[in-house]
Parts: sequence; C-alpha cells; structure tokens
Amino acid sequence: MNNLKNICICALVFLALACKKQANSDLDTRMENTDASIDNKVSDLLSKMTLEEKIGQMNQYNGFWDVTGPTPTNGDAAKKYEHLRKGYVGSMLNVKGVKDVRAVQKIAVEETRLGIPLIIGFDVIHGYKTLSPIPLAEAASWDLKAIKKSAEVAAKEASAAGINWTFAPMVDISRDARWGRVMEGAGEDTYLGSKIAVARVEGFQGNDLASPFTVAACAKHWAGYGFAEAGRDYNAVDVGSSTLNNIIFPPFKAALDAGVKTFMNSFNELNGIPATGNAYLQRELLKGKWEFDGFVVSDWWSIKEMVKHGFAKDKRQAAEYAIKAGSDMDMESYAYVEELAGLVRDGKVDESLIDDAVSRILRVKFELGLFDDPYKYCDEAREKQVIGCKEIQEACLDMAKKSIVLLKNENQLLPLKKEGLKIALIGALASDKTSPLGSWRLAAEDNTAVSILEGMQQYPNNDLTYAKGADFVYGEAKFTSELNINTKDRSGFPEAIEAAKNSDVVVMVLGEHAFQSGEARSRADIGLPSLQQELLETIYAVNKNIILVLNNGRPLAIPWADEHIPAIVEAWHLGTQSGNAITQVLYGDYNPSGKLPMTFPRNVGQIPIYYNHKNTGRPTLPASNDVFWSHYIDESNAPLYPFGYGLSYTSFAYSNLKVEKISDNSVKVSVDLKNTGKVKGKEVVQLYIHDLFARVTRPIKELKGFEMVELEPNQTKTIEFVLTELELGFFNNEGEFILEPGEFNVFVGGNSQADLKGSFQL
Ligand code: NOJ
Repeated sequence: MNNLKNICICALVFLALACKKQANSDLDTRMENTDASIDNKVSDLLSKMTLEEKIGQMNQYNGFWDVTGPTPTNGDAAKKYEHLRKGYVGSMLNVKGVKDVRAVQKIAVEETRLGIPLIIGFDVIHGYKTLSPIPLAEAASWDLKAIKKSAEVAAKEASAAGINWTFAPMVDISRDARWGRVMEGAGEDTYLGSKIAVARVEGFQGNDLASPFTVAACAKHWAGYGFAEAGRDYNAVDVGSSTLNNIIFPPFKAALDAGVKTFMNSFNELNGIPATGNAYLQRELLKGKWEFDGFVVSDWWSIKEMVKHGFAKDKRQAAEYAIKAGSDMDMESYAYVEELAGLVRDGKVDESLIDDAVSRILRVKFELGLFDDPYKYCDEAREKQVIGCKEIQEACLDMAKKSIVLLKNENQLLPLKKEGLKIALIGALASDKTSPLGSWRLAAEDNTAVSILEGMQQYPNNDLTYAKGADFVYGEAKFTSELNINTKDRSGFPEAIEAAKNSDVVVMVLGEHAFQSGEARSRADIGLPSLQQELLETIYAVNKNIILVLNNGRPLAIPWADEHIPAIVEAWHLGTQSGNAITQVLYGDYNPSGKLPMTFPRNVGQIPIYYNHKNTGRPTLPASNDVFWSHYIDESNAPLYPFGYGLSYTSFAYSNLKVEKISDNSVKVSVDLKNTGKVKGKEVVQLYIHDLFARVTRPIKELKGFEMVELEPNQTKTIEFVLTELELGFFNNEGEFILEPGEFNVFVGGNSQADLKGSFQL
C-alpha cells in the first residue's frame, strides 16, 4: 500500500515538473508567489540583512520633502533622506502621485545596498481624489455590495497615483457621538460593523493583492479607540472583557478573516496599558490566538507617546515595550530607527523579535508584487486616465445616493415637484464645495465637490433663490480649534428671511462643516453649531414649510428640529458627488433607503446611548410611579432616532413572522414584507434577537441579520434568515464563546425598535 502511495506521489511530482517546464511564464510567476515560495524569499532576504537594515524595514516616515525638488539639506528632512539612502526606511506615508512615489522608490530600490522597495501608505479613507461619502454615511446604506465597490474604486484611483497601502478600514465601534472620528467608522453596531469591515477589506484588496489595481488594507485602531472616555479623542479607555469580546473585537476578527494584510494599533491606553505597548492585544490575541500573519503598524507617534502616557520612561524604553508587545512598524516616532539596534546589542531585545517583524513586513511587500516590479503603481498614463474617471464618479454618486437617510417627511413634503415651485435655498453649507469632501481628503482639492446649490440648479423649472443666512469661517478652522466659529455675524439673516417669505418651500442646509468632525474634533455640544439653530428658528417663524438637509459627520442632537420641521434629510458629508445625490433624492429621482448606523440622541447627556443596551434591574416606571428606576429626571430615555431607522417615499408592512427550529442550535426565521405605498422602494429588513436569561446578561436587542429588499408597489416578498450558534452565542467573561440553552425572542422590522416578535427555545 505504502509502495503504491510512493509511486503515485513520484508520478505526480514528475508530472508536475514536466508540466512546469512547459508552462508559460505567467504560470511560472503565479507558482513563484505561493505562500511557501514567499516564505523562502523572505528568509533568504532576511539572512542577507544587517541589523540596521532590518530595523530600517520597521521604520516609516512621513513624506519629507518635495521629492522631485532639491535634495533636503537640513533638519528632519536631511535625516530622513540620509536614512532612506542607507536602507533604513521601509515605508513612507503621505507621498502621493506617480512622480513623487517613483522618486522615493527609486532611492530605495536603486541607491540602497539591498534595493528593498518601499511600501507606500496613505489614508485612502473614502476615496483618494474623487471622494465617496464618509464611512459613517456609507454604513447608512447597509448596502454591502455598494460599500465594497466604493473601496474597490478608491483602491483603483489610489493605486494609479502610486499608493499600495491604505490605512483603512477603521473598524472601531463607537457609541459616543461626541467623538469626532465616528465619521470614519461604521457606527455603533458590531454585527453591521463586521459585515462592513469585510466588504471594505475585500474592496480594497480584491482577489489579487499583486494586481496593480488593488492596495493592502489596514484594520485600525487596535483596539478600543472608539470607547475614549467622554468622547474626547485620544482619551483613556477602560472597558471590561464582555464589551471587548462581544462589541469591540468582532469587526477586527472579521477583517482578519477577510484577509486584511495589516493592523494599526491605537493612540489610547486600554485598561491602563497603551495599545501600542499592549502585548495581550498584539502578541497574545492578534498574532497568537488569531494567527494573524500580516504586520502591525503603530499609529502616528504612538510609540513615543507611551512616555507621555506614563508607561515608558523614555523613547528607548518605549521602543522596547512596543517591539516586545508586537508593534512591527514605527510610524514617525524615530523610536525604532534610533533605539532598537542598541536594545538588541545590550541584550534587552531579542533579535528574533526583529526578525519576526521584518519577515511580516517583507511578506506583504512580496505579496504586493513590489519585488517583481517596484514601479508597478507608477504609470503616468494610467494615473492620468484613472483619476476622476467616469467609473469612479459613477460609483461615488451611487454610493452617495444610497447613504442618504430620510428622517422625517410629514405630509409628504418630499419629494419636491419638478416645476412651478418657488424654492428658497438657505445655509452656507448649501453652496459649499469643500465640506462635502469630509475631513479625510488628503489628495482631493478644496472646492471640488458638487454643491447642493449646483445640484438644485439642474432642475430649472422651479424658481430658486439662494441665501447664505449665516456664514462660517472655514479655511482657518482646518487645523485650529473651532470654538469661535461664526457666533456673531447675523448680517445675512435679513436676506434669508426675505427669500423664505417669498417661497413655497424652504430647503435649509445646516450642520457641520468638514472640520467639525474627524480626528481630534470631539464636541461637547452636538447640536447645530454656531448660529444655525437660531437661523433655523428665525426662518421657521416666517415659513414653516422647511426641508432640513443635514450635513454632518456624526449624529446630532436636534430635538427642536424634529418637533417643528416637517421634513428632515440626513445627508452627512457625501463626497465629490454630494450635490447631485442630495438633489436627486429631494426631487424623487432616487427613493431614499438609508438607515441610521448610529443612534441620534435627544440630548448629549444621554450619551452613550445605543440600541443594544442591557435591561438593568429597574428598566421601567414602577406602578407606584416613584422615582427609583433607571432614567433621567429631566430627559426621556428614548433616542431621537433609533439605530436602524430611516424612511422611504413608499411604505412597508411586515407580517407573518415564522420561527422554525431546524436543529438543536439553529432556527429559521421568515417574514413577509409588502410595499404598501405608491412607488418602488428599497427596505433594509432587520432581524434582532434577545437571549432572555444568561449567565452573563445579554442586551435587550442584538442585530443578527439584515437584507436589502426592493419591491414594486403592492409587491410582497418572503425574506428568510437562518440563525446558527454564531449568531446565537456570545463571549462569556472568560473570553470563551458559548451558546447557552434557553429562551430567545426574535424581532423583525425596519429599525431597532422593531416589534414584530417571535420566540424560540434552544
Ligand atoms: C493618525 C490616525 O489616527 C490614523 O488613523 C492615520 O492613519 C494616521 N494618523 C496616518 O495619517
């Protein structure tokens, strides 16, 4: 038997060799890039590297001079330039455009001893130069195909500009709208966030990392960054194992399972240990238990910031802690390049840790195909052709329309008639061509988005008057505190009042400008900033027929608007095609289908407010009507708009919920959805569970399935979901995933307050 097996193996090997000989060169290349062959190439290269060259691969610098210009001669730039030429730089960020990327790559490849190419990183967060909606807005589409496509075209455009690695997706879950970076994530829910993480990783990386049209993705920020205390960016995070395992970690794990090549650690400390120096997060869990074989990049300066955290006493110790904890690449701290060699020589750091980090980095470079052709992303003709091309613009427009959420539409004020209306368009944001680009748009130029004013002008049979009402100071706000923006100047009010008085309907565009959300843009008050609330109330006094279009990067607390304004459209920061998308929705050329990925509070004091909360021991008003239950004495517990909420120009009815057990650990749930309105529309059918009694208490509702369904008027469709132990189980406080037998409720509907209920027993 054994003999036969050996003969067969020999025959196969012979056949394989014979085939290989005849194979064309394409096949040869593909075979050369198998996992095993990359491992060999990595170890071969590693064996040739000096300690300094190895550490160089772990060093990432920001773009440091006009690369095509004169050689830098002083300060940091001179140091970086010298390091680059010596082979002490493995990656650069914020170098963009074929010309500049080629220039730095040429130094790495042609001037250094080993010629190892650089990996070029960039924050391609929601597009490169042509922008799609901010990630929070994209999440509001709940449309995984569109989100994947958006990442795919972003990769296509960025890779045409020389970039091969994006610092996205940000998969941090957050329940705090004060935190400015909620704009960069997928919102508050771990299930939705995990699905979106996968879509984005697949979109950026495609099926073939070596293709010149894809880029390596980066799951960030590992971990807990979205739970910064008080919503203040960079603040400490203190959360227990249940929240970590059930809420914070799953989107990272989903990104990893989707093949994400890199992780970025985070600025925050987690339970007393800065994430960058956190061995549990990086070595034990990520690289250990989860077997991640890509590399971890630090966040900007996060290695040296461990000194300020009060964790490491100086940069040398910070470098030691970071490498020991599993941070492979140092973004801009100079900690590795200056300290690691000494630490190894002094016996403080084992060289095997360096070898492991470098191998991980080299592996990704090989997978990208950078060793085969370091200039594969440097094609001027492609750059010219691809940037801003039709396919990318169309995908951005499609994504923008899908991201819009209709929050209120009393008396069907929307959609607007296409002729015969006198419309006043009011608000500085309505004519702004920059804010829609959001705060992450490093390569996009100011003034390149389609404004709402421009969008509205494309419907010429209505009479449109535009008035700003109140201006905002914008340019200076980019990198400074914005506390004093436009709190005084009411000189534009009279013109806006006049326009409103003489109109049938007023479209008011209010909210945040691009730099009122994003990194370091936490807000303690999340109402309409500056004079805008006053402007809204002033206009309302003369014309109540207002359609409020919100532009913002986070949930806003707008209870007055909800009470008084008949129609409200959540239009976020929608990117380059913003004005076109919004107007198509206002005029009914696109029927909105977005659903909120994050709860809108009534009051900032309710934060953190999120749908999947626990019940507490005192969840409802007692019969005795006394005060001793879990509530506020000055505000309701209810959100203004719940997670998963969003309207359409049509209406939907849910019925016939059936729950059927299909095995010991799984159930099938089905429901009928009918379009009961007059126009075709899309609905996101959402399924929530409640595990009623468990050894670790479970949230009152948890999203465990959703499906986008499009129906003609009067059409009905049956939607089915299957829940397995993956959806029904949870992590206990020891970090074990368990499924507890017992009673479950299941809810299906169009938002997280869905009340069509069934139940089952496991
Ligand atoms: C800091 C941010 O936290 C991170 O998300 C980003 O990728 C880096 N800066 C690089 O720009």
